Amino acid sequence: MKIVLKNIEKQGYKGDLESYLKEGGYQALKKAVSSSSEEIISEIKSSKLVGRGGAAFPTGLKWESAQKSKEFPKYVVCNADEGEPGTFKDRLILEKDPHLIIEAMAICGFSIGAEEGFVYLRGEYFKGYEILKRAVQEAEEKNFLGKNILGSKFSFKIDLYRGAGAYVCGEETALLDSLEGRKGQSRVKPPFPTFVGFKTKPTVLNNVETFANIPAIILKGGEWFSKIGCPDSPGTKLYCLSGDINKPGVYELPTSIALKELLERYGGGIRGKLKAVLPGGVSSNLLTDKELNVALNYPSLQKAGSMLGSGAVIVINNSHCIVDLAKRCAEFFDYESCGKCTPCREGTKRAREILVSITKGEGDLSDLELLKELQEVLYDTSRCGLGQAALNAVRSAIEKFPVEFEEHISKKKCRLGICPI
Ligand SMILES: Cc1cc2nc3c(=O)[nH]c(=O)nc-3n(C[C@H](O)[C@H](O)[C@H](O)COP(=O)(O)O)c2cc1C
Ligand code: SF4
Repeated sequence: MKIVLKNIEKQGYKGDLESYLKEGGYQALKKAVSSSSEEIISEIKSSKLVGRGGAAFPTGLKWESAQKSKEFPKYVVCNADEGEPGTFKDRLILEKDPHLIIEAMAICGFSIGAEEGFVYLRGEYFKGYEILKRAVQEAEEKNFLGKNILGSKFSFKIDLYRGAGAYVCGEETALLDSLEGRKGQSRVKPPFPTFVGFKTKPTVLNNVETFANIPAIILKGGEWFSKIGCPDSPGTKLYCLSGDINKPGVYELPTSIALKELLERYGGGIRGKLKAVLPGGVSSNLLTDKELNVALNYPSLQKAGSMLGSGAVIVINNSHCIVDLAKRCAEFFDYESCGKCTPCREGTKRAREILVSITKGEGDLSDLELLKELQEVLYDTSRCGLGQAALNAVRSAIEKFPVEFEEHISKKKCRLGICPI
């Protein structure tokens, strides 16, 4: 079952306008401009599609609230910042099938009443930028973008904006600040971007993969989509499999797939002996080998005490020291914290300092309680998701591998000889 990678996985598919049209490209836009915005939004709502960028918010509801606003102009933003370590699916879509995103953004623009859209692209995606730029030109030349699209009254243009390499700029409100030319720092929510977004106007902001599902939903119907995968969170998901796995890569599978099946059947099994999995990148809680039957969708992973995030499934074998891994996660969040709110700015720093001292054999058992408390404070009081999730991996590492932490503290010993004790 392929929706997002349907074209990409076809042999000989080039991703230019000609190949896209051959595969039925822009038919969904044609259908959309001859329908009403209410009809399109009702189709998206009945599909039960939720955002694939991490927060899993229902896409139809997001579009509906922007559509209902009487404020103009409105905007469409595609979040292609893709900064979560272990995520590389949006890049694949943008480089191999850019017209899919252009078509989806135009459909969104039509349904909410927007005439302008932006793709906020990760700065390091040099190739993706060139490909997307060319695709936008092609779409303009054939009037899939521009004035009076396909003979209708609808006009829509897309501009590309390149990020400068800050993880927080993937967070939607920090992204909007950056897009407006300011330092990318998260805003207080509410108000949400659908009400007060780009330049304070109603803005629909969706992830690349979320947009990539739209043309198929318009052509085949929301009902069709809602029957795929897990009924509570239907469709397919792009899983980015990396780390100690035999066949790393991007896999599109129905959301009912179990983690164990992804690792064994598609990923070709673990390299070495499995120690843990981060199912949603470094912001998620670790799962151990006893938790592999969990289905890889948003509600199931939440019930299992972790999260799917953007689908970065990182496999960790037993050649890695869990304390070293926790330290590296803490270093990442300390480095990426934008510094706007105190709990995250100071808390990520303290967590890093404590973990560095444990890896040097200078820790105390009370540090473990302190780290757990820090995780709770950051989760409850940080302004945005970066701080809220910053110590998830650290806390779950302490809870699921307490003996390794205790060895570092009490015996001053790293059993793998990785930490500089
Ligand atoms: C620190 C942080 C980084 C994020 N990075 C991304 C990102 O790179 N791409 C993305 O689509 N969403 C990212 N998100 C989620 C966005 O804030 C937002 O929920 C999402 O883009 C909305 O689109 P969706 O509804 O289609 O998922 C990030 C969130 C946080 C807190
Ligand atoms: S939680 Fe962290 S990244 Fe988010 S606003 Fe606060 S300091 Fe910035």
